[in-house]
Amino acid sequence: MSTPVKKVPIHLQSAQNRLLIKNGKTVNENEIVEQDVYVEDGIIKQLGRNLLIPGGTRVIDARGKYVIPGGIDPHTHMQFEFMGTTSVDDFYQGTKAAVAGGTTMIIDFVVPKQGESILDSYYAWRQKADDKVCCDYGLHVALTSWNDKVKGEMKTLCEKHGVNSFKMFMAYDFYLKDDELYGAFQRCRELGALAQVHAENGLIIKKNVEKLKAFGVTGPEGHEMSRPECIEAEAVNRACVISKQVNAAICFDNISTGQSAEMIKKHQTPGATIYGTTLVSNLALVGDSQNMKTITSPPLRSNPDIPDQIWGYLASDVLQLTGSDHCTFTREQKEMGKGDFSKIPNGVNGVEDRMSVIWEKGVHSGIIDPCRYVAITSTNAAKLFNVYPRKGCIAVGSDADIVVWNPSKTRVISSKTHNIAIDFNIFEGMECHGVPEYVIVNGRVCVDEEQLRAVQGHGKFVETPCWAPFIYAPEKMDELTAPKNNGALNEIELTNKLAKIE
Ligand code: URP
Ligand code: ZN
Ligand code: ZN
Repeated sequence: MSTPVKKVPIHLQSAQNRLLIKNGKTVNENEIVEQDVYVEDGIIKQLGRNLLIPGGTRVIDARGKYVIPGGIDPHTHMQFEFMGTTSVDDFYQGTKAAVAGGTTMIIDFVVPKQGESILDSYYAWRQKADDKVCCDYGLHVALTSWNDKVKGEMKTLCEKHGVNSFKMFMAYDFYLKDDELYGAFQRCRELGALAQVHAENGLIIKKNVEKLKAFGVTGPEGHEMSRPECIEAEAVNRACVISKQVNAAICFDNISTGQSAEMIKKHQTPGATIYGTTLVSNLALVGDSQNMKTITSPPLRSNPDIPDQIWGYLASDVLQLTGSDHCTFTREQKEMGKGDFSKIPNGVNGVEDRMSVIWEKGVHSGIIDPCRYVAITSTNAAKLFNVYPRKGCIAVGSDADIVVWNPSKTRVISSKTHNIAIDFNIFEGMECHGVPEYVIVNGRVCVDEEQLRAVQGHGKFVETPCWAPFIYAPEKMDELTAPKNNGALNEIELTNKLAKIE
């Protein structure tokens, strides 16, 4: 017997589906405009002043506030089995916290066990996430082994399952070697996908860990000692060189030092498609090497100059994206590495606080303006992962993933009030100007006057198609292939030539 459906009166339906955000300033990557935003059925339907709006529409007054695209966090690890344990924020708790902080889409990493089918692992991730997510999500897929089966399944993932990015780790037990990286980058290029890279020299780290242990270093300080800045910069250089041999587009996932950002800059020659993500933790914190709770990889650097250095590269577009690398372990889980720093589960929080901390350190402090803020927290991720302009902007026809941002209010980050599952917060005590007063996810008000009303299962899996125009636009491709009048081959042309020779 079917359950009788209770009819919702027409005027109440309208109130739920229609929303007018009045008197605010919309912010896109290129401009700030004083205009109202009208939303119906989850989509932005009109922009402007004096809009004609149906009766019964809910009105939010955004006077004195910014109306910005919901954040897109391109780097999370929810419910991730890693280093002998599982990160505690699952897709419900993690996306609920994301929404609380003004993020309306996450892109998580499928990380198959070595030898496991990447397709099976993708299905397993969908199963973990689909019914739980409070906001939309996409998936990157990591390649932890390299063989013909993986190559074949990459194609299936791209063509049938909405995946357009693959991740190569250069560190951890499952890092790919140079010839495997070469093959994986080449395959990404063939498929029109984006190769993402965790750049650290895994082999040297392993040697350093052995040496440090032999010297009797057991405490958390061993973590940063084993992973000096040059180890990251070397891997960045190597990945850039290899990717250029096959004309692959690559994006570094966790740039934590000025040295490696400078390396990216050096390789961003005309026609090269090299992008960089940095992490909110790197932008805001100086590492305390004695604190096992903040252990993550690459490490939070104890060099106090690093955050300013990275801000410089982010402001000048050498780096384009900001993620959280949200991968949370409780104090108790972190204690697994007591007496052996190499066993401390790697990962820290950030999905909830990314938007506020970046506003505080970037906009409030005067380094960037609200437009650049929108670019690095939302638009650039939407473009690279090819969901723009559906996401990443305030535009007619876009998903109504919107944040009403009050720059005059402040909040203090605390584990007593946060929405994630761990019993500490790496940003504890940080005062942030800029508060998401309303967070609208696909047209539904999920933070309402700062009250969290996230709904489990409200989010959907969002397909990320290959051949993102932002990366593979014809004019970019022309730059790669255009003949130069002096007949000499530049680095790109030569690389191009070599790439065609099998
Ligand atoms: O330490 C980190 N970042 N843990 C998650 C895995 C990774 O490297 O992205
Ligand atoms: Zn990583
Ligand atoms: Zn990560």
